[in-house]
Amino acid sequence: MNLAVNIGKLKLKNPIICASGTFGFGDELKGLADFSSIGAVVSKTITVDPKEGNLPPRIYETDCGVINSIGLANPGVDSFIKEKLPALGKLQTKHIISLGGFSEKEYKQLIKKLDKQKEVDAFELNLSCPNLGKKKLISQSQKLTYNLIKNLRKLTKKPLIAKVTPEVTDIIEIAKAVSDAGADAVSMVNTYFSLAIDIETKKSYLGNISGGYSGPAIKPMSLYKVWQAANSIDIPVIGGGGITNYKDAIEFFLAGSTAVSLGTINLAYPNAAESILAEIKKYMKKNKMKNLGNLRRSFNG
Ligand SMILES: Cc1cc2nc3c(=O)[nH]c(=O)nc-3n(C[C@H](O)[C@H](O)[C@H](O)COP(=O)(O)O)c2cc1C
Repeated sequence: MNLAVNIGKLKLKNPIICASGTFGFGDELKGLADFSSIGAVVSKTITVDPKEGNLPPRIYETDCGVINSIGLANPGVDSFIKEKLPALGKLQTKHIISLGGFSEKEYKQLIKKLDKQKEVDAFELNLSCPNLGKKKLISQSQKLTYNLIKNLRKLTKKPLIAKVTPEVTDIIEIAKAVSDAGADAVSMVNTYFSLAIDIETKKSYLGNISGGYSGPAIKPMSLYKVWQAANSIDIPVIGGGGITNYKDAIEFFLAGSTAVSLGTINLAYPNAAESILAEIKKYMKKNKMKNLGNLRRSFNG
């Protein structure tokens, strides 16, 4: 059975990717997760300058998901390179570094600093953080998405993945902008805008008031967006949003994903990748499927 997948030139031993912000930088989970079951880890998003993040509380758990407003808390790129990156090379997985910029210049600075680092296998451009108080996210605009990726593409030969928001009217036009601009893959979905109010205090449960919703509740909506995108572009789609078990993952493959991302599930079960991968193998064996391409092409509508 062949579970290897290619995301541009990035070769993953299996199609399970731990999503940005839910798995630290990877090294923190050493001893808690089986890295042989993880095709790649996407780091939490790195910015040029260190960021404290949003006012606490930053996470609120609902019946079937979580709302977060972390606000890109991270040590900044220089400290990441010095303090965190060296340890990552020792883990038996690939490292996709998530980049967050507040301008094109910042994305360029991040790529220039990280491109020469051997531990960096690929970049994921976070074009979709909902917690920065901006009027519009980059991936809510076809033009901004296309122009940014086109300009960054010239700066690196490493695989470039664009992580997009599901909060758009037409995900197909955004997916096409990503593909036309020369990205190697689209990663989707990021969180949905959301709010939860404490009826006693009449205040939001989150310091930042609103946040991004993730976990099981978003799965059917995420699956739909992934299916729409995968049917309209030729580059790989890394699909996820609400995956908690192998059945969810299989649905995302059937909808056209080349690889799947595990996010919120990691917060409760850091070793979720191991059991999900084992069950995917069993499912493929039972259905006499030798590779993931068979699975991807077998959705009957
Ligand atoms: C606590 C938390 C922090 C996150 N931080 C980031 C981040 O820094 N960058 C990013 O691109 N996505 C971030 N995300 C979004 C996840 O990577 C993922 O796209 C989203 O949660 C949907 O998948 P899920 O339902 O499997 O969690 C974060 C999600 C959570 C729950």
